[in-house]
Amino acid sequence: MKIIVAIDGFSSCGKSTMAKGLAAYAGYTYVDTGAMYRAVALYCIRKGWITEDHVDETQLQAHIHELDICFRRRPDGGQDTILNGENVEKLIRTLDVGNAASRVSTIGFVRRELVKRQQAMGEKKGIVMDGRDIGTVVFPNAELKIFVTARPEVRAQRRYQELLAKGEQTTFEKVLDNVRERDFRDTHRTESPLKQAEDAILFDNSELTRTEQMEKLERIFDKAVHNLSL
Ligand code: DC
Repeated sequence: MKIIVAIDGFSSCGKSTMAKGLAAYAGYTYVDTGAMYRAVALYCIRKGWITEDHVDETQLQAHIHELDICFRRRPDGGQDTILNGENVEKLIRTLDVGNAASRVSTIGFVRRELVKRQQAMGEKKGIVMDGRDIGTVVFPNAELKIFVTARPEVRAQRRYQELLAKGEQTTFEKVLDNVRERDFRDTHRTESPLKQAEDAILFDNSELTRTEQMEKLERIFDKAVHNLSL
């Protein structure tokens, strides 16, 4: 029996690591919805439709249907994001694109378009999808919903290490401010603000190692599938 697993939570809380790991464990497809918002943001940046204080919604609305966003598995088990045939995986992971993604994700028609595409990807179940609104909006009937959280300082430290490893010049304080700013925007926007679904399991991984976190998640998944098969 295949189910839909919805993993939501704050930025840089290890959601995608968890979702990717669980998809590999279960033999399911992994969908990173944040990457889809990031791909839209990159497209807008390149077109000049997003500036410091403005997003050209008219242009974006007229052209959003032309954006083909899909995922391609890498031999190392990872996944690349493909935008209109171009591998943009590395380009969408910068702080700038993350900030632009946070802004375009507040626009109603952008959300409706991407939600529609995400729902189509889950039609056959057997999917682990991570994002902000998966358990609340995209798949309100998902069989298993996890809401991931970790302390802002812990998340900022993880993000800071990731950015340093990629060679980005930044400071821990800057990353922590950015984490707080994005938390605020993600939880306060009018369109599908980030919130825990009532039937989601709260998963705080501040004090867990990656191994502990995966073991715990696999136990939760096995139990959910077992209970549904009874
Ligand atoms: O998870 P991430 O950092 O890659 O997400 C990038 C931005 O997209 C983030 O600011 C929140 C937004 N997002 C969203 O609004 N809904 C989703 N389902 C996924 C991401």
